[in-house]
Amino acid sequence: MKIVSTEPSQVIASRVAEAMNTSVVYVKFSRFPDGELYLCANGLDEDMIIVGSVVDNDSLVQLVLLIDACEGLNNRLVIPYMGYARQDKRFKDGEPVSARAISRLLSRGVHRCITVNIHDKKILSYFEIPALDVSLAGDIGTYIKEMDLNNPLILAPDDGAAAFARQVAAIGRWDCDHLNKTRISGDDVRMAPRMLSAADRPVVIVDDIISTGGTIATAAAMLREQGASEVFAACVHGVLTGGAFARLKAAGINDVVCSDTIERGCSRYSAAARIAEALSQ
Ligand code: R5P
Repeated sequence: MKIVSTEPSQVIASRVAEAMNTSVVYVKFSRFPDGELYLCANGLDEDMIIVGSVVDNDSLVQLVLLIDACEGLNNRLVIPYMGYARQDKRFKDGEPVSARAISRLLSRGVHRCITVNIHDKKILSYFEIPALDVSLAGDIGTYIKEMDLNNPLILAPDDGAAAFARQVAAIGRWDCDHLNKTRISGDDVRMAPRMLSAADRPVVIVDDIISTGGTIATAAAMLREQGASEVFAACVHGVLTGGAFARLKAAGINDVVCSDTIERGCSRYSAAARIAEALSQ
């Protein structure tokens, strides 16, 4: 068995290889003069694990090309971060269900697929092969434990992330709550924990994705006003688009951490162990 990856997922692929005591395949990536992508994988095996996060359109095309390069082999696919997953339904007529389109596209030529904290588990049914999602909630909890914070409050930014926050909080038996949004007036919104007070304690806001950072930046500023001693943000997928990291720091967040499903400067914990466990099942 060998592991092969797209260009943006080389580090996480190597970590999965280490966890599974196997090796990675060297892939040469380049472009044709007209901008089209080219790749050549050297030394494939009969059993292949193909690793690729969909972080943009080029990474999606690389993944499709890589699956084709492995045609005829026993291929398993790992998608650490699956872009396009947030368009998981048709919000208005004429729109695609993008998550379904991507799932179908990536199902061809592979026998099984593993995702990590996919935006919604119902997307797994869009794949035309068996698909399994693994969660890094426990790994975020372990990371927070190592931060050694005094009586932290684990906070989900909304109701949708509340179950995830509870799984994180269970690791340290910490208090857990989610933010409530109250509209004071047309352009004035107040955000505060639904039941618990953030005063005089550190708060860790946890979510699956930080994209623009808009939600968490607003929440952080308000939590500071409510007396939180420190505010941290931890997520699985650090999409961090449009200057999100600086936006969060400017909003008074002490630190922002994410996993290596998207390789960032603030990737402080790895999804590799969870992926390796799922591949070994
Ligand atoms: C939404 O469904 C996700 O769980 C995140 O809450 C969302 O993607 C965060 O977006 P942003 O960072 O742009 O506020």
